[in-house]
Amino acid sequence: MSLNLDTRQRAMLAEIGVRVWQPQADAPAPVAPAVSPVSSTPIFIAASAVSIRAVAPKDLKQAPQQPASSPSDAPPGMATIAAMPWPALQQAVATCQACALCQSRTNTVFGVGDSQADWLVVGEAPGENEDLQGEPFVGAAGQLLDNMLKAIGLARSATNASNGPQGVYITNTLKCRPPGNRNPEAAELAQCAPFLQRQIELVQPKIILAMGRFAVQSLLGSTEPLGKLRGRVHRYQAGSVSVPVVVTYHPAYLLRNLPDKAKAWADLCLARQVKQDG
Ligand code: URA
Repeated sequence: MSLNLDTRQRAMLAEIGVRVWQPQADAPAPVAPAVSPVSSTPIFIAASAVSIRAVAPKDLKQAPQQPASSPSDAPPGMATIAAMPWPALQQAVATCQACALCQSRTNTVFGVGDSQADWLVVGEAPGENEDLQGEPFVGAAGQLLDNMLKAIGLARSATNASNGPQGVYITNTLKCRPPGNRNPEAAELAQCAPFLQRQIELVQPKIILAMGRFAVQSLLGSTEPLGKLRGRVHRYQAGSVSVPVVVTYHPAYLLRNLPDKAKAWADLCLARQVKQDG
């Protein structure tokens, strides 16, 4: 696989602490990644042959609009959520009282970005900053995520229509912050899952990047260690929706485990390849 990185992308990779090694034209390709335990990790990206099914056309896409102004106190059922257009879904999340997290939250965090993007990034749950601002990934982990996305030509502020970076939609498995940033509980993940499912149906992404074990748990129903799931393509299946999923490390984990940034970069490249092939 040719990386074809331009100067900007190389600068971005340097920014997230990844130095890309590419073989000389006449040099033999290495057989294994060369990994160093420091942040400037040289990596070799192996070509991966990925065969996936085509994703349904985007004829059902909805443009995001302002939420309707008449909140309902009764929590909507799964069938109701499954039929909601984007504004009603936003409203349902904003007024959700289905679990105890509603008592401690400042804001719900629905998502950010282009709701018609080919890329969907799914994280874990809002942290303190996200809870205060009502936007996912605005803290240190968010900065790293933005740099990672920038390195492959994506930005949360972009749309698919522009010539510059491509759009991405970013959301979480949980729409409310667990107190003290504790791990999401199984019941909370289950309660919030219909919201994420409907977001996926409406966005109709070509590729989902699942960041961290709770995203993986929600999307794939797997509790296998992340290290065993990354490096190959999975599928999110729900009703008629089937979307390829690439699993990678959570940015907060990467901030604490710098050498694994090289693996995260390989995951991004795999996701980009799957999206291009789709
Ligand atoms: N971590 C997440 O998984 N999501 C956020 O929005 C912020 C931090």
